[in-house]
Amino acid sequence: MTQDDAPPSSSQQGLEEENHPRRRDVLATVTLGMGCAGACALAYPFLNSLNGTQSSRIGEDDTVEVDCSKLAPGQQLVVTWRGWPVFVQRRTPEMLASLRVPELAHRLRDPESKMHQQPQDAINWHRSVVPEIGVLIGICTHLGCVPSFDAPSSGDRSGKYACPCHGSQFDIAGRAYKDAPAPYNLPVPPVTIISDQHLLIGKSKGDPDFDIATIQQI
Ligand code: FES
Repeated sequence: MTQDDAPPSSSQQGLEEENHPRRRDVLATVTLGMGCAGACALAYPFLNSLNGTQSSRIGEDDTVEVDCSKLAPGQQLVVTWRGWPVFVQRRTPEMLASLRVPELAHRLRDPESKMHQQPQDAINWHRSVVPEIGVLIGICTHLGCVPSFDAPSSGDRSGKYACPCHGSQFDIAGRAYKDAPAPYNLPVPPVTIISDQHLLIGKSKGDPDFDIATIQQI
């Protein structure tokens, strides 16, 4: 890994915060002010409309219950949690196999999820509580645009995410590729699996003390 490829160290991050005060606070403004303004402005009302529908239900305790019963293999649904779009995928065996290809690790910034971008129970090769279901916050770690989902196809059975703003790409586990501006993997929210078809976003049974506000970047 070259220095250019490596994610910023905590001290670099501190400098970045100094040079870009209140970065997290201005992300939404920056996003809306950039080239993707139209798409993002349209996306949020759409995403907000998804909560409280057939696929999700908002709890009184800052949680969102998601019904995955109609989620087909290789597809994702989108809900909102704390105002962020959250991608919920049902992974195929091919998608899972793609995450374990040895050559892939050399192309990723943080293949082992060492940066604090997920709860403890998502620090694993699939970055999720169970391999078959992936849950990611859909905010690019560069400047906050919403990445688009490229579902698996006959040409690419692994699937991926691509950011429309400056070309960052992420694998299906949300791991950022090198040679693109996004410095960190997509954040993973706290998740608890309730049953085969239902999960809860906002609480982590495996890491109950996890606080999304402490992650490196969103
Ligand atoms: S916001 Fe710049 S690459 Fe995603």
